[in-house]
Amino acid sequence: MFADRVAQLQRALDERAAQQLLRTPVTLEQYSGRVLTIAGQGYINFCGNDYLGLATEPQVLQAFADGASRYGAGSSGSPLVTGQHAVHQQLCQSLCDWLNVERVLLFSSGFAANQAMLQTLSQKTDTLLLDKLSHASLIDGALHSDAALKRFAHNDLDALEPLLRQTSQALVVTEGVFSMDGDSPDLAAMLALCQQYQAPLLLDDAHGLGVLGPQGKGTAAAQGIKQADIFCSMANFGKALGVGGAFIGGSKTVINYIEQFGRHYIYSTALPPPLCAAVLKSIELCRSESWRRDKLHSNIALFRHLAADLALLNSQTAIQGLVLGSSERALAVSQQLKQAGIWLSAIRPPTVPQGSARLRITLSAQHSEQDIHQLVQQLRQLV
Ligand SMILES: Cc1ncc(COP(=O)(O)O)c(C=O)c1O
Repeated sequence: MFADRVAQLQRALDERAAQQLLRTPVTLEQYSGRVLTIAGQGYINFCGNDYLGLATEPQVLQAFADGASRYGAGSSGSPLVTGQHAVHQQLCQSLCDWLNVERVLLFSSGFAANQAMLQTLSQKTDTLLLDKLSHASLIDGALHSDAALKRFAHNDLDALEPLLRQTSQALVVTEGVFSMDGDSPDLAAMLALCQQYQAPLLLDDAHGLGVLGPQGKGTAAAQGIKQADIFCSMANFGKALGVGGAFIGGSKTVINYIEQFGRHYIYSTALPPPLCAAVLKSIELCRSESWRRDKLHSNIALFRHLAADLALLNSQTAIQGLVLGSSERALAVSQQLKQAGIWLSAIRPPTVPQGSARLRITLSAQHSEQDIHQLVQQLRQLV
């Protein structure tokens, strides 16, 4: 009965494979942050998001274990129906203190948080204005909302301005650090434009939190912007904080509204309490151990210095893009790097635009200078 449908699915899979676009997950036997062990072989990892090395920090692991003994493995309910434990409350408070926001809500993932932010805060008469390189979770959030969607050229305020002028009820959506290019918008100028046209600004700071600004407060703080001037922002706990889950932050009214009307929040099991205990410890270390950020930034500077003759994208963050063009080429270079003991997956369309398949090199505080020298030496030979 389903034969036609299954054949149709298989054709789509075959087509992806023919275009060199099939993705196959690898199974990690061990993860130490810096080194991945796959099929008994160790590789230096240059494609994770554990920028500060907190995913394997013993104090974070201990907090996870203690949290499980104290609160149980799971929250056992949605947050508004007995799923909220004291540790969720402590995590929310810690985020408010750290980031200077009035209120936050926790979500199971950054994907869910972005969907909730865009769908809940926009209405039928609104237009969501998204950067051309927005993350899939923002695009899907906008597509599933009641609002209209328009895109503006990447980080281009001259492209955003006419859209704001032509649109009576706009909300502007951008990222602090773009996930595939590693660059940032001029947020202060974007905010000024938004204020001029009375358009709320929504910010995804998944890759800025922990990495940028004093105490790792993120992109807005790094650019001298008051958190209160941003209508609503989100970031996740699965990147620099090394754990998983996410939050949305903003004024009391904005967050109270999402609490009442955000379907991804209301109808979803609250985060596991031990995970919240681990994130609390991660935040404490992220704030107090600035050596992690210092090391990360010196690794970024070393990489950019050594690789100055390669056609890197313009980024000062932990995400360094090297565009290779075709998916075949990106796959071939990635494969050759593996043979040299470096794990660096090729990023291909539709994650990035057609013709811009690349290596998305990510740096971490855990890399040694020797690791970075080895990477650049290999890249120079292969690219
Ligand atoms: C910019 C950006 N936003 C949102 C997400 C989604 O976050 P999560 O992985 O926690 O679902 C990601 C992660 O892939 C991301 O890079």
